[in-house]
Amino acid sequence: MSSSISAAWDRLRALSPRSLRHLFEDDGRVAALSGRIEWRGEEGPRGILFDWSKTHLDDELLAGFEALAEACDFKGKRAALLGGERINVTERRAAEHTAQRGVGAATSVEEAEALHERMQLLVEAIHEGALGEVRHLIHIGIGGSALGPALALGTLSRDLSLVDVHVVSNIDGLSLEAAFAACDPQTTLIAVASKTFTTIETMTNAASALDWLAQNGVSDPGGRVIALTASPEKAVEWGVDETRVLPFPESVGGRYSLWSSIGFPIALALGWDDFSAMLAGARAVDEHFRDSDGRANLPLRTAFADQYYTRLRGCETRAVFAYDERLALFPAYLQQLEMESNGKSVTADGSPVGGPTAPITWGGVGTDGQHAVFQLLHQGTHLIPVDFIASIAPGDALDSAHHAILLTNCFAQGAALMAGGNMSVESTNGKRDQARSFPGDRPSATMLCDDLDAATLGALIAFHEHRTFANAVLMEINPFDQFGVELGKKMANDIAKGGQTFDASTQALLEAAGLA
Ligand code: F6P
Repeated sequence: MSSSISAAWDRLRALSPRSLRHLFEDDGRVAALSGRIEWRGEEGPRGILFDWSKTHLDDELLAGFEALAEACDFKGKRAALLGGERINVTERRAAEHTAQRGVGAATSVEEAEALHERMQLLVEAIHEGALGEVRHLIHIGIGGSALGPALALGTLSRDLSLVDVHVVSNIDGLSLEAAFAACDPQTTLIAVASKTFTTIETMTNAASALDWLAQNGVSDPGGRVIALTASPEKAVEWGVDETRVLPFPESVGGRYSLWSSIGFPIALALGWDDFSAMLAGARAVDEHFRDSDGRANLPLRTAFADQYYTRLRGCETRAVFAYDERLALFPAYLQQLEMESNGKSVTADGSPVGGPTAPITWGGVGTDGQHAVFQLLHQGTHLIPVDFIASIAPGDALDSAHHAILLTNCFAQGAALMAGGNMSVESTNGKRDQARSFPGDRPSATMLCDDLDAATLGALIAFHEHRTFANAVLMEINPFDQFGVELGKKMANDIAKGGQTFDASTQALLEAAGLA
């Protein structure tokens, strides 16, 4: 760690932030710690309000973190990211997901446009019947090759779905069997989504899906496959016709890939306009991230709060609760984005990190969570910053009372965590009942969307991508590699190959399962 970075951390550690109750004595606080990112919708500006006022960020902390960002060369790293430089130093690659949305090096943006055009042509040809009647798509991929499509379809496909999509990721055959049970083989396409086109779960599931088509009277199962990959030559080798291979650049990371051809099922199910709207919402956030500095840069400011809680207050987890059923998969999506990106122990140059890195991201949907896990948030011994996400416009068509209760509960949770209180009654021995007292001063943040349409989802995801990157810069780590997942894969392969012995416990388990 350079001396200017460690000096910036030392100055931050020396600060003693005030309680939320004290911070709210400042009338200007909500305006100072809230901001909107907007884009043009059909009926005027649409956007998301990011309210970080219920966190402990104050002027001193903000200034301290701005100094840290400068010491970490945040601006230089951002320019390198958006300029297509090889910012993923361990793999000597750029990280060009923003180019898929039109913000990046000119050649990469042009390449992305050409690949999108090719994808659009195939999507529209399928809609027009070029591959016969298509009513179902089984999308096979795992991790970043599945979570993005699953999230986008879970969020956006309630109103309209041109094709019924089933996302299958797990190698557990129950997952593929469930998709088979829901699809008619004669009208089903298979999308094989894999950046590397080597992932064992995906390739095994894909082979079983082709067998299923063949066993159910489809004469040319290979002709029903679309490959979505950064290794097009491997897809062709595997047997997919070149015309149905939709490539994406190697410089787009797996967990950042839903903007590329990995988004094919989104475009097929929802239509090209919705896919484009998702890109446009993300682009609005990219432009904000590129053009704003210091605390005015909302993903960066959010990273200031994240770093404050993780490194200065020792918070080991961060909770995310979406007060919207459509975002039920959002915490799972963020888990991969944040934990696979920033769950590291060394800095980009290989030295030990200067403190804890990514907290454990967890969460769920409100109001369900309130009746299950919120007890710990309010009265447990852990301090857990909570993010709330909600939409002003409802997704349902029921009586507006439903949505009003949903939103008031969301806002009430943030208020209660912050204010705390005492609901105790006088007990018989005259003592107050401490079990009914709430300490308060517990931080939360709220993302309030005007609506939850394709552009908003794109913006929400892009906001978290940049938040993750900004956190990585402040921690000096490379968020774009994921070597931590390799050792387990290698061991599984070694076990499958046979002929080796492992530790006594693993050996006994293999023997008990009849695998050794
Ligand atoms: O094992 C981790 C990982 O490499 C993720 O980063 C990636 O999203 C996933 O596996 C799937 O990889 P692929 O798209 O190459 O099949």
